Amino acid sequence: MAAVRAVGILSRLSGIRHLRFSGYTCRSFTVSSIMMERTHVNCEIKGDVAVVRFNTPDSKVNTLSQQLQSEFTEVMNEVWANDAVKSAVLISSKPGCFIAGADINMIEECKTVEEVTRLSQAGQKMFEKIEASTKPVVAAINGSCLGGGLEVAIACHYRIATKDRKTVLGTPEVMLGLLPGAGGTQRLPKMIGLPNALDIMLTGKNIRADKAIKMGLVDQLVSPLGPGLKSPEERTIEYLEEVAINCARRIANKQISLKRDKKLTDRVQSWAMKFPFIREQVYKMVEKKVMAQTKGLYPAPLKIIEVVKTGLEKGSDAGYLIESQKFGELAMTNESKALTGLYHGQVTCKKNKFGKPQKETEKVAVLGAGLMGAGIAQVTIDKGILTILKDTTLEGLEKGQQQIYKGLNDKVKKKTLTSFERDRIQSNLIGQLDYEGFEKADMVIEAVFEDMKIKHSVLKEVEAVVAPHCIFASNTSALPISEIAAVSKRPEKVIGMHYFSPVDRMQLLEIVTTDKTSKDTTAAAVAVGLKQGKVIIVVKDRPGFYTTRCLAPTLAEALRVLQEHGDPKKLDSVTTGFGFPVGIATLIDEVGVDVAAHVAEDLGKAFGARMSGGSIDVLKAMVAKGFLGRKTGKGYFLYQAGVKGKNLNPGAKEILDRFKLPVNPGVSSDEDIQLRLVSRFVNEAVMCLQEGILSSPVEGDIGAVFGLGFPPCLGGPFKFLDSYGASTLVDKMKKYESVYSSEFTPCQMLVDYAKDTSKKFHH
Ligand code: NAI
Repeated sequence: MAAVRAVGILSRLSGIRHLRFSGYTCRSFTVSSIMMERTHVNCEIKGDVAVVRFNTPDSKVNTLSQQLQSEFTEVMNEVWANDAVKSAVLISSKPGCFIAGADINMIEECKTVEEVTRLSQAGQKMFEKIEASTKPVVAAINGSCLGGGLEVAIACHYRIATKDRKTVLGTPEVMLGLLPGAGGTQRLPKMIGLPNALDIMLTGKNIRADKAIKMGLVDQLVSPLGPGLKSPEERTIEYLEEVAINCARRIANKQISLKRDKKLTDRVQSWAMKFPFIREQVYKMVEKKVMAQTKGLYPAPLKIIEVVKTGLEKGSDAGYLIESQKFGELAMTNESKALTGLYHGQVTCKKNKFGKPQKETEKVAVLGAGLMGAGIAQVTIDKGILTILKDTTLEGLEKGQQQIYKGLNDKVKKKTLTSFERDRIQSNLIGQLDYEGFEKADMVIEAVFEDMKIKHSVLKEVEAVVAPHCIFASNTSALPISEIAAVSKRPEKVIGMHYFSPVDRMQLLEIVTTDKTSKDTTAAAVAVGLKQGKVIIVVKDRPGFYTTRCLAPTLAEALRVLQEHGDPKKLDSVTTGFGFPVGIATLIDEVGVDVAAHVAEDLGKAFGARMSGGSIDVLKAMVAKGFLGRKTGKGYFLYQAGVKGKNLNPGAKEILDRFKLPVNPGVSSDEDIQLRLVSRFVNEAVMCLQEGILSSPVEGDIGAVFGLGFPPCLGGPFKFLDSYGASTLVDKMKKYESVYSSEFTPCQMLVDYAKDTSKKFHH
């Protein structure tokens, strides 16, 4: 779960598509030549109200780029200079986006801490001027209002937001290893209180409009409008503008007071926060929580606390100064660069580089209603695709349908879905035990038992009933796709679609192509995966593909560490201490000890000594005792309902003692254990690139982080090599090789990168 959560946090990076400070066009302000040149802001005077409209050209979202910032400044200076204007409204012309944030590229282009600090200070100055404006400024928010966008909004005097699912407010900077650098760290605590402000800045989560009004982040909500002569979106924006103009005018005329009525609980909280020792307790508590969650590996959350604290304890001037300085420092850290790299990688892996498939997939059939099949069906119906879910037993089918219902209903409980939407989504699902209707399917995804004979028989059964264009995709976790396709009459239509569990929460989809898979089949599989909301890597077919192949040597090494130290808790703490969201002993329990044993055996056969490490007999002995991990309540740890904390399974400990290996003192410090595990992961990843399994380091990083929980703060195996240094890692591997054996021999590509230190995987 922790892995899912950590990866979940990263997934929200997608919320910050563009962090740009772009320009504003002010077309109809007056007929001045300057205005004609503006391309990002449209300003119109309506009576005594200036309506400033953001509209970054050729983009779905508005982003705060340097150009936007300077045009915005120009426009606002004109608003302030124009005596006929008494108030202003800031609004976006784009549906679904107020301002999505600042431009990441703008920050990345900076070479020094000082350059980034100056960027931050420019933003701070602009927003301070808005805050100090004697003409009230109202932010009219429809759609995403994130990062720098929220910082603009909270500098305004009043905020009106549409009560729409697309309207979200938040400060996702922390997910890029940054902090809100344009006054956000200073204004938010004053506006919504210290605990709420720290919560949204430290998690980067999106706040929906109905929640935002409760916490005082917005002042008024307007309901979106239904269809009329224009589209609902256009009507909503027009209505929002109308309400905002009216409101701005009334604020200017003092008919609306800016003094906010706080709820009793909020009043009590603000009163409590006046006491320095209570604030001190809050800082300490939050710091402790951050340290427990991040192990100190992510600098941004700690800096956010420090900056907020400085502002509250030493005053605004000190607060703004440290905000800009820490923003600059953070932007230059390896962690921020790693997280930003992942953000870019995610954007890349959300595109279909294989082009548009000849036929759009409108109907999908999923075979096997087990854990994976049900998950795949859920993410497919969720996107409006008609889906058949077929199993061989009624029991299996019902279990799958229940899993889907529960998955959707949990969203209703969390209020991210209405019960009406849940039922509408569920109505896209047809559960059945036969092949009826398969002739209309465009794609069949199989998720039956991991057994080649069964995979072959379902493939033949499917091919006997489907239309010629229908694609057959297998969700096998490790069986070679070409071997599955060997019995196919049309191997060009066979492909691997390797999902990760739980499918509705894990973002990665690993698509596996054989030499015979056609480009159109690949394009269609990627298109379906993108529709399902997945981040996609496309790899070549070899045993273990990419992800399982990197996992295998890491697990083999983890097993050896367990045999040497006999302590699953130590293995967990050493690995989480390196940044893995879940300790490796826990990971084995989650994946299943039996599954780990299969992977070790199968890939051991395929790759020989490189997959060696601990003894598979340990895993087999555990399987024989029924210690399969969480699913049987016992693995390395005990899983009992209602029991908190981790307790070792004494039975597993007894097995580890039976298979005890001597500890090699020269290679057994915590750091050595971490590097033994990570070097084998990284070496295998590089080997996959060397062999062409992976087409790029970017996909290698995305697959490792989003599929296997490789530490996000390191940005993936390739980004890690670039910052840690291939030669440093090769030296370590040689040391381990001298103690153990050839499983630590670095592959040729890694050696090449070690020899030439100017060579980097990412540029
Ligand atoms: P499961 O055991 O939960 O479900 C398998 C389902 O397939 C059962 O409901 C069974 O009744 C059904 N089934 C068996 N033969 C069938 C047939 N001929 N036609 C239709 N349904 C049939 O298994 P799980 O975990 O869902 O795994 C399914 C596949 O997904 C396997 O190939 C596995 O390796 C792969 N996979 C599993 C992952 C995991 O974490 N569990 C992750 C990625 C892939």
